[in-house]
Amino acid sequence: MVRTFHPVEIVGCGSYVPEKVVTNHDLEALMNTSDTWIVERTGIRQRHIARDDQALSDLAIPAARQALAHAGISASEIDLIIVGTSTPDMLMPATSALVQHAIGATRAAVFDMEAACTGFVQAFIVAQQFLMTGMYRKALVIGGDLLSKFTNFSDRGTGMLFGDGAGAVVLSSGGQDAILSNLMGADGSGADLITIPIGSRVPPSGERADSGGHHVTMKGREVYKFALERVPPAIQEAARLAGLELSEIDHFLMHQANARIIEAVAKRLGLPMEKMIVNIDMRANTSAGTVPIALAESAHSGRIKAGDTVLMVGFGSGLTWAASVIRWTAAPYSQED
Ligand SMILES: CC(C)(COP(=O)(O)OP(=O)(O)OC[C@H]1O[C@@H](n2cnc3c(N)ncnc32)[C@H](O)[C@@H]1OP(=O)(O)O)[C@@H](O)C(=O)NCCC(=O)NCCS
Repeated sequence: MVRTFHPVEIVGCGSYVPEKVVTNHDLEALMNTSDTWIVERTGIRQRHIARDDQALSDLAIPAARQALAHAGISASEIDLIIVGTSTPDMLMPATSALVQHAIGATRAAVFDMEAACTGFVQAFIVAQQFLMTGMYRKALVIGGDLLSKFTNFSDRGTGMLFGDGAGAVVLSSGGQDAILSNLMGADGSGADLITIPIGSRVPPSGERADSGGHHVTMKGREVYKFALERVPPAIQEAARLAGLELSEIDHFLMHQANARIIEAVAKRLGLPMEKMIVNIDMRANTSAGTVPIALAESAHSGRIKAGDTVLMVGFGSGLTWAASVIRWTAAPYSQED
């Protein structure tokens, strides 16, 4: 159990994915692949892709509004907004500033956190620290990415994996003590395994940017190996820190990178697949979006119920990983929220 000065809990959650659906069959026209291969090797059947005129904040804002409505909290009560993302609207300002203005969270301090697919869980843990110390009382944590704008859809090694979307939670202090454990880790020696090179080393104009420097690169097999090496111990450690046996945890919500990774981790730890939350078939890998989208969808559908324990684990580029065990205390979601 984390020692808290002020108890912290999730009081609302929300998600948003763009309307446009791209199926594996649609991708067959763009790259040398097949629906059968993608389903067998990744579990993905379709992904949601943003319109040309949409940026990350266009996904984050509706997710945030739904989370606030679920929490029954007005934006003006929010003290802090953190957006976990690797695909902000712009390099500056922070996307969290755009969200703050759009939703009217005029009192909120804002910043973005860049930890790729670990971005949401890491931002969630960071936000808790401000609430536990009493510095702030209410935080909005958003995780999302719009990787379709950084994906080479003729590269069959990466082009079938990603989708766009965002999820959000509202954290509140002073109610129930519902954060049971947190952990974060990194291994920068694997920084080259998943990259979007564009930045101050590969500037946006120039030969390297024009020859693919703005696209996701990935050493798929090595990433797969990393996930199987690091994620099972992270899950075991998060459970140990929470004072729980794995069998006492109701839901395991892993980053949706590949259904085979989720199945292999479950097998290694002896976890029944019924306890693994999986939506990669419909949503694909939305990077920092996967965990909060799946959390919101599972809570809103009633799969996650009051009193349930949920172990969330993110992992990805960096390499980074982060895990948190929570007890679900938010009120049931109603369609009017
Ligand atoms: C990317 C990934 C799905 C590739 O699956 P894999 O089983 O490792 O496949 P390989 O790259 O070894 O390729 C196996 C074969 O399929 C082919 N192949 C690769 N991608 C393909 C595609 N999209 N469609 C059809 N065939 C494909 C390869 O060319 C290779 O063919 P060969 O045996 O004739 O040479 C897998 O490595 C993976 O999911 N890695 C982790 C990725 C990840 O989680 N990223 C996000 C982390 S946050």
